[in-house]
Amino acid sequence: MATVAQRAPLVCLCALIIYAVVDLKWVYGANVSYDHRSLIIDGQRKLLMSASIHYPRSVPAMWPDLIAKAKEGGIDVIDTYVFWNGHEPKEGTYYFEDRFDLVKFVKIAQQAGLYVNLRIGPFIAAEWIFGGIPIWLHYVPGTVFRTNNEPFKRYMEKFTTYIVDLMKHEKLFASQGGPIILSQIENEYGDMESNYGEGAKPYAMWAAKMALSQNIGVPWIMCQQYDAPDPVINTCNQFYCDQFTPNSYSKPKMWTENWPGWFKTFGSRNPHRPPEDIAFGVARFFQKGGTYQNYYMYHGGTNFARTAGGPFITTSYDYDAPIDEFGLLRQPKWGHLKELHEAIKLCDSALLYGEEKNLSLGPLQEANVYTGQGVCAAFLSNSDEEHDKDVIFQNKSYHLPAWSVSILPDCKNVAFNTAKIGVQTSIVEMQSIDMMSANSLLEEESNAAIHWETFKEKVGVWGNDVFTTNTLIDQINTTKDTTDYLWYTTSLQVDEKEPFFSNGLLPVLIVESRGHAMHLFINNEFIGSASGNGDDITFKYEKAIHLRAGKNDIVFLSMTVGLQNGGPHYDFVGAGISKVKLEGFRDGSINLSTNDWTYQIGLKGEQLNLYLESGVGNVQWEKAASPPKNRALTWYKARINAPPGNDPVALDMLSMGKGQAWLNGRMIGRYWPISSSPFAGCPSKCNYRGKFLPNKCSTDCGNPTQRWYHVPRSWFNPTDNLLVLFEDKGGDPTQIRFVKREAIKLCGLISEAHPPHLKYWRKTITNSIELENTARPTLNLQCPEGSQISSINFASFGNPQGACGAFEKGSCHGVQSSSIVQKDCIGCKSCSVTLSVEKFGEDPCPGASKSLAVEAYCS
Ligand code: GAL
Repeated sequence: MATVAQRAPLVCLCALIIYAVVDLKWVYGANVSYDHRSLIIDGQRKLLMSASIHYPRSVPAMWPDLIAKAKEGGIDVIDTYVFWNGHEPKEGTYYFEDRFDLVKFVKIAQQAGLYVNLRIGPFIAAEWIFGGIPIWLHYVPGTVFRTNNEPFKRYMEKFTTYIVDLMKHEKLFASQGGPIILSQIENEYGDMESNYGEGAKPYAMWAAKMALSQNIGVPWIMCQQYDAPDPVINTCNQFYCDQFTPNSYSKPKMWTENWPGWFKTFGSRNPHRPPEDIAFGVARFFQKGGTYQNYYMYHGGTNFARTAGGPFITTSYDYDAPIDEFGLLRQPKWGHLKELHEAIKLCDSALLYGEEKNLSLGPLQEANVYTGQGVCAAFLSNSDEEHDKDVIFQNKSYHLPAWSVSILPDCKNVAFNTAKIGVQTSIVEMQSIDMMSANSLLEEESNAAIHWETFKEKVGVWGNDVFTTNTLIDQINTTKDTTDYLWYTTSLQVDEKEPFFSNGLLPVLIVESRGHAMHLFINNEFIGSASGNGDDITFKYEKAIHLRAGKNDIVFLSMTVGLQNGGPHYDFVGAGISKVKLEGFRDGSINLSTNDWTYQIGLKGEQLNLYLESGVGNVQWEKAASPPKNRALTWYKARINAPPGNDPVALDMLSMGKGQAWLNGRMIGRYWPISSSPFAGCPSKCNYRGKFLPNKCSTDCGNPTQRWYHVPRSWFNPTDNLLVLFEDKGGDPTQIRFVKREAIKLCGLISEAHPPHLKYWRKTITNSIELENTARPTLNLQCPEGSQISSINFASFGNPQGACGAFEKGSCHGVQSSSIVQKDCIGCKSCSVTLSVEKFGEDPCPGASKSLAVEAYCS
């Protein structure tokens, strides 16, 4: 075997050649085609790892870093939907600035040397408002979404063409030298077809044909479209896609949505998918002939402003993704998948050009072996959900943990096992920020709170733009989603002879709503609230109420919490109060549904643009030493300095009720720290073994679904930032704080049962794969940007016990553990410690299997 030093010049030369090829593809254009095995780019079959990062769910200032982190994580392709309603807010008025600067986003991916999969849709679902389709299109007469409907098809074609032309103009398709190697039309329509009757099939086929007619020079895909016509590739979206086969032998097996976590809805738990299970799913997919895999999402980000769909999708779209909402690496998830990608890539020649053989190794154990042109790679899997298993493969014994895959790039040695996490865990937390330095108005005060001024929004009708009818009308058809808020106001004459004035039995108000939330005010007083949730958007509300003799004002503030983003005929799902009656009257019940209802759309503060610098002066704000608490319908404003430092920041809204927040005129989003039920079902420990479903490993039962709201750093000026809230329910603004998100601790645990670190694998000049004979499991620690390892809190070479964050020494412990780790790590941005007796100078328990556990702080 050649030594590393001997091989070095060759490695460099290869790198240069690869670089030149990479460069040329952007200049002259690449030919992208496919065969049954994979996409083929300029004649080369490709194994591709892809990452969904949605450009409007972060800010342009974050894009280069997110894309660089994806690349470092072993990603080849950036996948994004195109967000039609963000780009065409009014018919014929296009917007491609700021977070919607699609061209810039694609070019940043290109500059990073990555490919792009542009999923145009334009129906996208995505937990995005109205599934990405502009609301105005619903009101173009005769339009029905996602079926064989002329207006819908006409507008869909027009927008698709607009995007394709824009990309062509910027030379962004691979055929033109750009990074876009794939594009998607529609989204999971195959799963929806049975709801659309006769219009379904012709629409799906029309969509494919329309896409093909765009001549983009790269393949089109349709996900979950079982009968996608040639040459459109049908792809799989599921938690596992190893069993998927495309609809023709000539198409490669592609996985466009592998969900490495899940989204959240207000009032629900916090879902998590364990890294071992994600890795298992990915390894199984490539084991079974897969060739392209995309994490939906790799960075979920934030549903800024009112872009969240659902209804009830939270403002955070963190998704438990490998990069968290704030742009920090989620460890060990990100690192475990990075190692998985490296291990799979070590097998690429064998996988892409070898012959495949499937061997049974047991009832739930199998090997898939790929051999050819001097290379051999094998994947050994154990799909047993409970039991580890020792198997014999090519005369050698291998221990396969339950629900895991071992990857053998040379058919002999294990490079990676999906259930063995060898990378660091980072404990990332929200930390308080010293707001003294952040709040210019507070220099003389010892209290670090933000100094608020207030403006009270009127209950019910506030302006002239009102109308009255004797029916309860649909909210969405009325507001056309220009606002979350619609006032339903009526009045009732109550006779003093009504029995409840004497018998003490209060009348009962019964309200039904199609969704999504409402507050009730009687005679100008806040009485109560009700809402649906992510499982059922409708709700019923019953309340014993006090009425007075004479005229009573009954007022509802009905609220949407994000429009429907999918489902059968979702464009026709309504919202708002649908029935109102009163019981306990002399004549029985009173039906208020047919009363005269006066409607006012939105809030006065919205109309006056109170959240904009240009509108904030439109009202007289009240100043008080202490702002009102628990008061519904209150606008709060403050002037603040940017929080010091560079860490990502968020607003802690735990003390607030429900509302919306803006910084410098940009809407942060809806806030609503509503809690999930304490009994919703959160396991104390998450078992990665067995099929994952979104509810399997949830946390935060009984806690607010979303407490922290991301405010991008790039939205701040150094001083004098305008922070505005509209609180619709009532809360305590004095407790609102900016917090920063920081990795505070790192830890790692490896054992002799871990495969040697991947850095010991080499591709030789003949393209075969070798493992160096000095190879050992290695523990790697890396601090976040701008920090270094400042202390080692715990280190034990022996048999340490416990998990990350709570390690303890076991019966076997090398006395020099700490000093050796300290010597290698303190003062370094990153360090590697090999698990070996030589390294630790002595064997604390000869003959016993040993591990190494380390916990470190960065600063
Ligand atoms: C898929 C859909 C995506 C997203 C995902 C769940 O079915 O294609 O757009 O909604 O579910 O996050």
